[in-house]
Amino acid sequence: MKAADIGCGTVRWTRQLAHWGVQVTGYDHSREAIRQARQAAPDLRYEVWDVDRDIPRSLTPGSVDLITCRLAIAYPGRGRFMVDAARWLAPGVMFYAPTPPYRDRVPAGGFHRGLTEDEIEGLAVGWSSRITYRLGKRARAIVLSGYGRERHRRTETRPRYPHGRIEDHPPTITEGLS
Ligand SMILES: C[S@@+](CC[C@H](N)C(=O)[O-])C[C@H]1O[C@@H](n2cnc3c(N)ncnc32)[C@H](O)[C@@H]1O
Repeated sequence: MKAADIGCGTVRWTRQLAHWGVQVTGYDHSREAIRQARQAAPDLRYEVWDVDRDIPRSLTPGSVDLITCRLAIAYPGRGRFMVDAARWLAPGVMFYAPTPPYRDRVPAGGFHRGLTEDEIEGLAVGWSSRITYRLGKRARAIVLSGYGRERHRRTETRPRYPHGRIEDHPPTITEGLS
């Protein structure tokens, strides 16, 4: 499986993906973050890239099976990025973005910029399937797949997630998250 970890920072999550056998490239606009990442995990691939700038050659249509954006989806310009991300994904695969469900608050344990519930909902526009997992009170993990395909209607839908569902996060994908 090939993955792109966008806003990889100092690659805690990127390393977790590699540990699971995913062939992952970490992207971040911070040269300092990538420098530290290279020191921490020299065997992984990285690119310095600002999501709001020209798309790197490594990201071509259908080139990855998974895009992750852990604690970073609130930073780049989301509109264009979400459409680009859908193009880079091979058919039938997914986009995964854990994020705090609020804007610019400082929860115990550190600052993370987040998205409001409405913004989280907005991320799913155009995707046929969204599942939002609860990661305790401090975060949600958004899993999207099937961009541009017909929406699945789900009976377990909650009012705030009209074409998705919200569930407790399975333990396998909480590993590596703090
Ligand atoms: C809160 S950190 C999360 C780091 C990492 N994903 C993790 O889970 O530990 C957010 C990261 O997004 C990166 N970032 C912010 N804006 C970006 C942009 N426009 N393009 C690429 N990376 C960006 C920051 O440099 C930072 O490393």
